[in-house]
Amino acid sequence: MFLLPVLLAGTANAADADKGKAVYTANCMACHGTAADGKGPAAMALDPKPTDFTAAEFWDGKENAAIKKVIKTGKPGTPMAPFPQLSDDDVANVIAYLRGFAPADE
Ligand code: HEC
Repeated sequence: MFLLPVLLAGTANAADADKGKAVYTANCMACHGTAADGKGPAAMALDPKPTDFTAAEFWDGKENAAIKKVIKTGKPGTPMAPFPQLSDDDVANVIAYLRGFAPADE
């Protein structure tokens, strides 16, 4: 159902994707890219490459809690850094922003 992801993103914790965009631009865009496709300016030098948030396989069954944990604590063994300075609201908002890049038929 086409509208479902939009509706879910809009209701979960009243997360605000517009505010999430500001968090993303300041903290995530250099690696994950302006189009959230994992092709930011810093991505070339990284191994593994930053996650492509436009890829259906990333979103398959992905829970907000798991995404939040990665943002707060980083992903060990990869260049994905921890962002303990982000508030729970910031994290919820940036997740809402990222979900906007998921393919519409997810
Ligand atoms: C220094 C570069 C860099 C920055 C800055 C960065 N990331 Fe990442 N991120 C990565 C890399 C590299 C991976 C890929 C890990 C992998 O392939 O397993 C990743 C993976 C992820 C994942 C997927 C983890 C998973 O479950 O596999 C999420 C979600 C994520 N980043 C969110 C963010 C958010 C949100 C921000 C900003 C607050 C951010 N990242 C900032 C490099 C970065």
